[in-house]
Amino acid sequence: MYATMIWEKGELAVLDQTKLPEKTVYITCDTSRRVKEAIQKLEVRGAPAIGAAAAFAMVMGAEEVAGSNFLEKLAKVRDDLISARPTAVNLAWACHKLYNIAATAEPSLTFDILIKRMEDAAYKIYNDDIRTNKKMGEYGAELLPHNAKVITHCNAGALATCGWGTALGVIRSAHKQGKISMVYADETRPLLQGARLTVYELLKEKIPVTLITDSMAAWTIRQKGIDCAVVGADRIALNGDTANKIGTYGLALACRAQGIPFYIAAPSSTFDFTAQSAKDIPIELRDGEEIKRIGEKLITPAEVQTYNPSFDITPAELIAGIITEFGVLKPPFGESIAQMRAKMP
Ligand code: MRU
Repeated sequence: MYATMIWEKGELAVLDQTKLPEKTVYITCDTSRRVKEAIQKLEVRGAPAIGAAAAFAMVMGAEEVAGSNFLEKLAKVRDDLISARPTAVNLAWACHKLYNIAATAEPSLTFDILIKRMEDAAYKIYNDDIRTNKKMGEYGAELLPHNAKVITHCNAGALATCGWGTALGVIRSAHKQGKISMVYADETRPLLQGARLTVYELLKEKIPVTLITDSMAAWTIRQKGIDCAVVGADRIALNGDTANKIGTYGLALACRAQGIPFYIAAPSSTFDFTAQSAKDIPIELRDGEEIKRIGEKLITPAEVQTYNPSFDITPAELIAGIITEFGVLKPPFGESIAQMRAKMP
């Protein structure tokens, strides 16, 4: 799989995911503002990938605001980056991590060494993400039966992370063990991350995949005897309520109605330890033009009113397990999340 992003000589090249699968092109971001724009436009997307891109943007931002009132200006860069997409908590998590390195640096530290420290921290976020994804893959694969038929939503694969993937990482690991019979990929309206990106990733790795529209999920689970759902997450509250791409909640309801388990795969960086429950999770509302169009083509009367939440929240009671790098968390999530937190460095 192509690298989601490449950091070189102080610039971040991001694989333009709005062009996939038609074109494989990288956009060179030479300012922190350009990275913010890439995040807003979904050129780089998926909670862990957004977090890593923002970490590198903080390094650029630090260089941009070097000089007087450095920390004050760096805090502005941080807050500006965080505002790019409000639901994916990895974004704020990474920006705060990088800011805190500058804020806690000893006064005698030279600027060059500070930048080096920040760069090392950004690389660490990037490398840790790949490592944790592989760990999650091992834990998650154990949950799947032999000849598993799995349904997934959106794209929680190598493209949404720094490599391997969360939900697709579980599927990749299970496939390596010969356990996957079929992956059903929801197309994921309106921006089609399932149809464009999940299908692309799975075909590239010769993992059997069947594309369905979102509205076909409930019926397909029933007709095809799907065993379970595995999806990613953008933010998980302390009680297990989980935000993910719009349509995830409906899929979880369909799984409950059919009596099959619904799993979340997410690294510990996707947990928001300040959010008690769904009520504390902000939901990104995007421009309604996205649902009035397929690609560039307008498909509705131009004047129609729209509502375009980019994410929904699946209540904890619909979730059978949350696959993390610390193992599979089981309900009651209040307890299992607290236990995971106690193990975190
Ligand atoms: O709007 P997107 O494409 O950034 O949404 C992505 C998702 O909802 C993913 O499922 C989530 O970020 C997990 S990615 C490992």
